[in-house]
Amino acid sequence: MQEQLTDSFGRRIEYVRLSVTDRCNLRCFYCLPGDFRNFPEPDAWLGFDEIERVIAAFASLGVSKIRLTGGEPLLRRGLPDLAGRLARLLGIADLSLSTNAVLLARQAGALRAAGVRRINVSLDTLRPDRFAAITRGGRLDKVLEGIMAARRAGFAPIKINMLALKGINDDEFEDMVEFCLEHDFTLRFIETMPVGAAGRAATRHYLDLQEVKRRLASRFELIPGMMPGGGPARYMQVAGTRLRIGFITPISRHFCATCNRVRLSADGTLYLCLGQDYRYDLRALLRSGADSAQLRAAIVQALVLKPERHEFREKPRQVIRFMSMTGG
Ligand code: 5AD
Ligand code: SF4
Repeated sequence: MQEQLTDSFGRRIEYVRLSVTDRCNLRCFYCLPGDFRNFPEPDAWLGFDEIERVIAAFASLGVSKIRLTGGEPLLRRGLPDLAGRLARLLGIADLSLSTNAVLLARQAGALRAAGVRRINVSLDTLRPDRFAAITRGGRLDKVLEGIMAARRAGFAPIKINMLALKGINDDEFEDMVEFCLEHDFTLRFIETMPVGAAGRAATRHYLDLQEVKRRLASRFELIPGMMPGGGPARYMQVAGTRLRIGFITPISRHFCATCNRVRLSADGTLYLCLGQDYRYDLRALLRSGADSAQLRAAIVQALVLKPERHEFREKPRQVIRFMSMTGG
């Protein structure tokens, strides 16, 4: 029988979020400081062979879901190649991508052909000037082109992830619902988290999603909904339509009890929790020529470090790394 990964709290780990670069072509104010330049050298990054070895080890331990994240994953040269290699690994049943979509128009077809099935796009506003302000210079038209190209390439569902930010985009929730209705996208609202200095500074724009839900319920008829592969989002459906709206509430109602994931950063560090600093260096092991049995043993051992929950409320200063290191 295949081995399974279970942590000290009985949670089964079946999902790896794989950051393929910590670089980003945007500078969202809640994620990165505007003058951020300090990226590690690419030779610290795992190469495709190394990534394939480590993901194969996870797969042999029962991990079946991989999400490619960043930074901005489309900045990693050869990403469709890597996607193809991971999609072919025994046991990997679900390969997905989180992107800001700026570079998606050109790559959507190749990624789809390589076996990426599902795409999540971060998009906080539909107004070009506001998009440029939030991302410090990004172009909304590129993002919209990217999303439409993804749809033409056959990605379904396409999920739009929108951070709910008081005083920034809280006049646009209804517009985003209409946009997603029109194009048949799934919409998810997310609470901002105090990850890194930029994330902490952005907590003054924090909005409790219970409030957002109440507001939307006064305009749209919301009934409880379901979404396969929905993860921690709680879904409502707009009655009489296909639109599902997810609410991801890491702060107001955390979902750590059902956490099923770990994160691997571009430099081969395994992070056991988005909101805590527990980590395990897999790169050193990979580069010392560890075989697959040794890799598996290390992963099992690392899992002991997985904490019960984040402590964003209790210890908001705790996580000093940038969100772009672990891709949310
Ligand atoms: N809080 C919540 N989500 C964040 N992201 C980046 N910074 C934060 C934060 N402080 C999310 C973005 C995007 C992904 C890269 O990480 O919305 O979806
Ligand atoms: Fe880039 Fe995403 Fe961070 Fe924005 S939130 S700077 S798109 S990694």
